[in-house]
Amino acid sequence: MNKMSIEAQTTSGNFAKVPPMGWNSWNTFYDQYDEKLLMEIADVMADGGYRDAGYRYLIIDDCWALRERDENGKLVPDPAKFPGGIENLIRYIHEKGLKFGLYACCGVRTCAGYPGSFEHEVTDAKTFASWGVDYLKYDNCHRPASQGSEMLYRRMSFALRSTGRDILLAACQWGTEGVGQWLSSSGAHTYRSTIDIQDSWESIRQITEKRLEVLHEGGPGHFNDMDMLVAGMYGKGVNPETSSGETAGCTSEEYQTHFALWAMLNSPLILGCDIRHPDETTKKLLTNPDLIAINQDPEARNCYKLVCDCSPSAFTLVRPMSDGSLAAGIFNMGEAPVQSGFSFWDLGLSSSQGQHLRIYDCLRHTNLGLFREAFSAPVPAHGCQVYRCFPA
Ligand code: GLA
Repeated sequence: MNKMSIEAQTTSGNFAKVPPMGWNSWNTFYDQYDEKLLMEIADVMADGGYRDAGYRYLIIDDCWALRERDENGKLVPDPAKFPGGIENLIRYIHEKGLKFGLYACCGVRTCAGYPGSFEHEVTDAKTFASWGVDYLKYDNCHRPASQGSEMLYRRMSFALRSTGRDILLAACQWGTEGVGQWLSSSGAHTYRSTIDIQDSWESIRQITEKRLEVLHEGGPGHFNDMDMLVAGMYGKGVNPETSSGETAGCTSEEYQTHFALWAMLNSPLILGCDIRHPDETTKKLLTNPDLIAINQDPEARNCYKLVCDCSPSAFTLVRPMSDGSLAAGIFNMGEAPVQSGFSFWDLGLSSSQGQHLRIYDCLRHTNLGLFREAFSAPVPAHGCQVYRCFPA
């Protein structure tokens, strides 16, 4: 992770020029968290290599407030969850060199039934700013029937900007009302365009399919958020909405494909597993510097997609990188292994004019050598290969 990309995630007035990275409580913990657990997560982020790999935001999702506002109309953090006070927790997180994120909702209630911000946007934005919030995940539940979400996201964006504090607005909009078209102009910085992720291969496959339909959407300052990562959960979350019951959990091969897809497709990388107890494979995957460098490339260009004759479920995603190389991910969403790859002609190279590629393997961190006209590799079912291709 280079210094420039960390700054691009967080520097004042320069939000989300690259996709934000962090950790969120929802996937694993649902409403079962408190300040002790969150401080442990902050410790692991800061001391366990996650912050230095690029994960900056520690985000509390739904269920943090009391069921009613106080007599001044302000949201009240649940004292059972935050006996030391939320500001104390936020201070702790900031002292660890992290940023703090919180959840709210543009309707009258949050999705889990806590008070929503509709007609309280200005008060809530001021409250969040006064507590030291750096990131707001803003959900889309329980909107009054007469209110479109475009206006409500504009509203919270303006309220946050008016506080004078830099607060990244993550619109959790689920892909209705053509959100990809108006998200940037609403002032929000990232947007969900699919339903909630679950800890299953089928969910990862469906979200990817939707994203591939709108490869041209999203970019610096307004990234398409493919939802929080389930990588490393292995069916262990207590959230009934994220786990798929009996079938919850993926193989480590599938989690690697999931992480590589999110990285290639410029999605925010928001961890959702219990990072206090990761297995070594998960930690290596989530902190893979070569995959993170693709996601955090300062030019943040979108990918194009090449199809493979070998199978309708295999494709290659390619992205021009700011150092003149190409990032290329070969994905096999199908049920049988394939030999798949790309011809340099399709990348826009002219072998007859002497354009060749030196290829580096981002999963194994090794140089594979010089290739002249094409490249292919074996890709297991539900698997991937990811490369950086340098002009040679
Ligand atoms: C919605 C969002 C989820 C999560 C829950 C919380 O379903 O899409 O990501 O924030 O609400 O209730």
